[in-house]
Amino acid sequence: MTIYLNGDYMPIEEAKVPVLDRGFIFGDGVYEVIPVYSRRAFRLAEHLKRLQHSLDGIKLKNPHSESQWTNILNELIKRNAPEDQYLYLHITRGVAKRDHAFPNPPVPPTVFVLSNPLTTPPAELLHSGIACITVADNRWLRCDIKAIALLPNVLLRQAAVEAGCAEAILIRDDAFLTEGAASNIFVVKNGTLLAPPKDNLMLPGITYDVILELAAANDIPFVVRKVKKEELFSADELLLTSSTKEVLAITTLDGKPVCNGKPGAVFTKMHKLYQAFKRDVMRK
Ligand code: PDD
Repeated sequence: MTIYLNGDYMPIEEAKVPVLDRGFIFGDGVYEVIPVYSRRAFRLAEHLKRLQHSLDGIKLKNPHSESQWTNILNELIKRNAPEDQYLYLHITRGVAKRDHAFPNPPVPPTVFVLSNPLTTPPAELLHSGIACITVADNRWLRCDIKAIALLPNVLLRQAAVEAGCAEAILIRDDAFLTEGAASNIFVVKNGTLLAPPKDNLMLPGITYDVILELAAANDIPFVVRKVKKEELFSADELLLTSSTKEVLAITTLDGKPVCNGKPGAVFTKMHKLYQAFKRDVMRK
């Protein structure tokens, strides 16, 4: 496995970062996860735009232009064997004496990109759907920044795993849905897809956008609005999306079946559309 670190490509075993890296010390950095299909990065421009938003959010200068990023990522894709990969891109504020305030003058950021084989959910999971729990969203108020400081998300996901579930669905103020610990969540009611609005309380998912574009292009009615906690429990269907999971049906919530406990019609249609979109747009 070849990785990229600060200008060089190397086997992952050789990659080293100093212990005073602010990513290690403070979680002071941001990241992206970009799927690669048939050696082409999916929605690259959108991922790089979200990366810029995250960097702006933590006041860190983007070390590369869009064309430099494109070259770095394409070279890494080329140096790794799988046709389908996912890229993990990680930028920290660099290496400096431990002090909460930014290093002054600034130090070079640490730039790390990892490629892993992309394994999308297997057929059994697409047929069964997944189980989720609801938990209180106790994260900060800038969840729109894709920060590497993921301790709340880690603990929330672990709570789901300990409950025998695949994901934790996050409820803000005991009142409304935000997203999953590492995914976006949609509700289906009476054939209409309900999507929580992109704001500071959730990550603006790239897959989320694809789902809404596919809905618009294929006459699936959708509404972007705040979704009440109760609406999760009276939903006809619940969908989960992310770059690595694509789209999955949630068929059990807090130990109870979602509607009849089987993936529903909107999921089935959306999954098909997503696969067709990948085939037509990415694999041509
Ligand atoms: N996570 N919300 C959160 C908190 C996430 O961590 C993710 C993705 C998403 C979905 O965004 P997208 O569709 O752009 O992948 C929503 C990635 C996959 C991760 O951390 O591994």
